[in-house]
Amino acid sequence: MSPVREHIAKGHVSPRRDVPASIARPEYVGRAVATEWTGGDVHSAETIERIRESAKIAAGALQEVGRHVAPGVTTDELDRIGHEYVLDHGAYPSTLGYPGAAGRPPFPKALCTSVNEVICHGIPDSTVIYDGDIVKVDITAYKNDVHGDNCGSFIAGEGSAEAKQLVEVTHEAMMRGIKAARVGREVNIIGRVIEKYAQRFGYESVRNYTGHGVGPAFHTGLIIPHYDAAPMHDDVIEPGMVFTVEPMLCMGSQDSSEWDDGWTVVTNDRSWVAQFEHTIVITEEGAEVLTLP
Ligand code: MF3
Ligand code: CO
Ligand code: CO
Repeated sequence: MSPVREHIAKGHVSPRRDVPASIARPEYVGRAVATEWTGGDVHSAETIERIRESAKIAAGALQEVGRHVAPGVTTDELDRIGHEYVLDHGAYPSTLGYPGAAGRPPFPKALCTSVNEVICHGIPDSTVIYDGDIVKVDITAYKNDVHGDNCGSFIAGEGSAEAKQLVEVTHEAMMRGIKAARVGREVNIIGRVIEKYAQRFGYESVRNYTGHGVGPAFHTGLIIPHYDAAPMHDDVIEPGMVFTVEPMLCMGSQDSSEWDDGWTVVTNDRSWVAQFEHTIVITEEGAEVLTLP
């Protein structure tokens, strides 16, 4: 008989994995806070080409890690696979050493693994994946001074009809949000579209964690909500802007708590969550997804 999944609990975190000295680190590694980005979110064609390469590496890493999501595998093993993939492509895994909130430790791993009721920022550890789990993998690559960020939800084994629907609807919500990102509109259109679609299925779209400008900084300061935030978040979408769209949809209530590890965010009612994330660039014709393998 296969073991029954209970609530997700903290496991053992393995020692920090090495990064060769030949791989350039983002400025925040080893510092208490990331330097605030003041360069805006519209980038030159040359910068966008560099982001394109980082995004492609992140997407390849996500695909490779996703292939290994299966019952019996630990989330630490997923981290090892993602870590090695990113290094093998000459990039640095952006989450490794990313500063936490004041007084909290930096993120210790190369990717986030957020299982079932974990909304986001789960730390890879000795937790074993069970049949039917939803495993969110969020991985970011830094190369040539820029980041590309993406996330996917993978079901271990077959999965329940409920889990499959949540994952499919979350992906579709992200894609609808991306298609709504057109020049001249306010960024709040994106969340409006995502939340409306989620509500059709009775899902809540998480408000406390958002998309963000990305590129020369991991998080530039630009916020992309996944709910209808109008009249707030009225930044106008322009050609050359690069940001993420990364909705988290929840089967139950999105009320959440953070573990005392300073990172892991779980739903209070333990309802399951799915997430997808792409890094996109805005063109006159619409949004182009950069996080494709
Ligand atoms: N990749 C996540 C995002 O989409 C950020 C993770 S920060 C970490 O913004 F420190 F938790 F890894
Ligand atoms: Co991410
Ligand atoms: Co992101």
